[in-house]
Amino acid sequence: MKKVFETCAIGTLQLKNRILRSATHEGMANEDGTPTDDLYKTYKKIAAGGAGAIITGYVGVKQNGKTFANMRMFDSDKYVDSYSAINAGLKEHKTPIILQVAHGGSRSNSKITGQEVVGPSFKKKNEYGDICREASETEIEEIINAFVGAISNAKKAGFDGVQIHAAHGYLLSEFISPVLNKRSDKWGGTTENRLRIVREILLKAREAVNNYPLLIKISAHDEFKNGLKLDEAIKIAEILQNSYCDAIEVSCGYGDFFYTVRMPQIPVDAIIKFVPLYRELSPFKKYLLKIIAPFVMKNYKPIHNYNVDGAELIRRNVDIPVIVVGGIRSLSDITEIITEKNIDFISMSRPFIIEPNIVEKFQKGIQAESRCINCGYCLFNVAGNKLRCYYGKIPKEKDKQAFA
Ligand SMILES: Cc1cc2nc3c(=O)[nH]c(=O)nc-3n(C[C@H](O)[C@H](O)[C@H](O)COP(=O)(O)O)c2cc1C
Repeated sequence: MKKVFETCAIGTLQLKNRILRSATHEGMANEDGTPTDDLYKTYKKIAAGGAGAIITGYVGVKQNGKTFANMRMFDSDKYVDSYSAINAGLKEHKTPIILQVAHGGSRSNSKITGQEVVGPSFKKKNEYGDICREASETEIEEIINAFVGAISNAKKAGFDGVQIHAAHGYLLSEFISPVLNKRSDKWGGTTENRLRIVREILLKAREAVNNYPLLIKISAHDEFKNGLKLDEAIKIAEILQNSYCDAIEVSCGYGDFFYTVRMPQIPVDAIIKFVPLYRELSPFKKYLLKIIAPFVMKNYKPIHNYNVDGAELIRRNVDIPVIVVGGIRSLSDITEIITEKNIDFISMSRPFIIEPNIVEKFQKGIQAESRCINCGYCLFNVAGNKLRCYYGKIPKEKDKQAFA
């Protein structure tokens, strides 16, 4: 029987336990997309704190797929050197570091990229007011090559593996989605066609990097009425397994934050403070928003372990390791997921923000549950600032030091 704390493998990668840090955008980028010094400190704490592996926050494989000004980029050889020292410095902890590679698709921001927003299909205004244009076949080929180039460079930079971000409404998941992909050419329609872009990335990357670990993150279900259902997610997982993928992380949601990152209630304070559209409202409108937000913004339940059922089903149909993420907080749940549901790994995002050493605390019996209260303030903050825990409260100016 599997154990939470035992050495295990994903492809050629050796891990010291089954608790991973899920990809978390750190907002720690210089203007040119290189990492700031804070990024190394963040990873160092998580690695020293016992995590089985760190999956980095997403990095952009192409300029027109950039979503935030503070998103790190990895779209040319020039980024390789900026990670060599970070990766070398983490080796002593034996915590592999896996680079998450992404393209923002229709969720990219033209004001930041200076380029048109492209995705599988036309889409009306995104959160930045950009209209998304249907990508041509040539542009799709360019995007595939950009992913493969980034993956090859990840290996050169000393990352222990990569994770292809095909979840959460970013470009690759938009192609997979039966709702967002409306194409009638070979890149749309059947499951196989919608998955073609991901499959081509995997096949070409495998050729380029041999047995280098290639992981993928998918959304196994979403917030749309006619969206992706688990039956199709199982079929997708089977195709991925047959496309040289080494592990599948199971998440959910195709663009609605509240579906993917679940919270007990809508964090209106954080939305007003951090989201530009709301930050600029008059005090009266902000007051009104506070009252109506809980009624007009949809909040999803349950907030704990919400991808476990899907991941369990997927795991029954594939032989490669499956990782599950989403509201997992206690060692007893983790143990049950791994020993009884036969899911190979669990991953967490928010718990590592408040306690980078949560895994060590679990392992030493210091704590049986994360202190994270799932408030979601970290999520809205990180669009413009560096990652931090707010513990459900925006500090007054004078208290800022205490939270820093
Ligand atoms: C601040 C923040 C940043 C995130 N950034 C990413 C990201 O870069 N890539 C990604 O795949 N998921 C990202 N996520 C989603 C998480 O990986 C995870 O799927 C989700 O938060 C649910 O896990 P949790 O309940 O353990 O936080 C982010 C979540 C948060 C809270």
